[in-house]
Amino acid sequence: MWPLTNWNTHTTIPLLAVLFTGLCCLTQAITITAPEYSLIKSVQEDVLISVGIACSETPTIEWTFMSSSSRRDVAVWQPGVHSNISEYYEDRLKTHNNGSITLLDLRLADSGVYILTVSEPTGHSKGSTIILKVTEVLYEDLQYLAVFVTVLGGIAGFLMLSMWLLDKVYRRVKTWRQMRKQPEHDETELQPL
Ligand SMILES: *[C@@H]1O[C@H](CO)[C@@H](O)[C@H](O)[C@H]1NC(C)=O
Ligand SMILES: *[C@@H]1O[C@H](CO)[C@@H](O)[C@H](O)[C@H]1NC(C)=O
Repeated sequence: MWPLTNWNTHTTIPLLAVLFTGLCCLTQAITITAPEYSLIKSVQEDVLISVGIACSETPTIEWTFMSSSSRRDVAVWQPGVHSNISEYYEDRLKTHNNGSITLLDLRLADSGVYILTVSEPTGHSKGSTIILKVTEVLYEDLQYLAVFVTVLGGIAGFLMLSMWLLDKVYRRVKTWRQMRKQPEHDETELQPL
């Protein structure tokens, strides 16, 4: 009996080791999470393109921008090691250790797809995409609306005043004619004016 049990433990331990290594390899895979995969912002606002990266080694994080009319590099960095922000975004981009980026002073041309690639020195890599839509500033529209309403109000006011004046003139003419027709009538009759 003993030799058999011994043989069993000798083979079980390496087998378990192989299984564990396999599990470790699986858990080593990079995971990327994002609270929002599409964002809408106004011109001149700031945006945090937020992601969370989990991986076992220091990753290389790379963001690329793509829209129907252009494609450009945004930034490449290794948290705590080095960072390279492309010239186009130099003064208005911040990188965060968790892989997120903050883009300041948004322009309409920032509308598009932001592609994230995370790679580990071992060669593993994973990607994700986030869509950003930048819209015109709302208050400009409101200003136009306010001007439009003011102009309309002005026209309406002018029309009302004209009608009131015309009515007055008409009444005066009418009473004046009545006075001419019946000069003997009393003045009190003219009061409805
Ligand atoms: C990533 O880091 C930034 C800045 O510290 C933080 O505001 C953001 O919430 C983080 N995102 C996630 C998904 O953890
Ligand atoms: C930074 O990236 C640009 C291209 O986006 C490249 O030409 C340049 O050599 C890089 N600089 C460093 C220090 O890696």
